[in-house]
Amino acid sequence: MDNKCNPLQIAESLAETWFPKVISQIDNHYVKVAKLKGSFVWHSHAEQDELFFILKGSLLMEYEDKKVDLQAGDLHVVPKGVMHNPVATEECLVLLIEDRGTAHTGNTDSSATRSVEEQLGSFVTENR
Ligand code: NI
Repeated sequence: MDNKCNPLQIAESLAETWFPKVISQIDNHYVKVAKLKGSFVWHSHAEQDELFFILKGSLLMEYEDKKVDLQAGDLHVVPKGVMHNPVATEECLVLLIEDRGTAHTGNTDSSATRSVEEQLGSFVTENR
């Protein structure tokens, strides 16, 4: 394999929103892409920071005391232990870098929760 992929193209191909897919890994972190639309769920990650890089569209990261407006090309890190809720008024494509142990809905068990195994998709067999 040539260890190359195009995150934007993969994100554009995703059928489901709020269902991150692992596209690569670096040491103990996963690189994921996701298609976002609408409001997610309030949650926090006690032990892990969460990096968002906006590939396309825009995203509003809501915190309890502020909102961070993110546009294509912007990079934002959600600090560990801080409650947050991503909101995409229009469809938004993001690249995420997270510790392999990070649950995307954090401490909130929601119908939106997708397991790491589900997020791995075909990555394990194709790239490992
Ligand atoms: Ni989060």
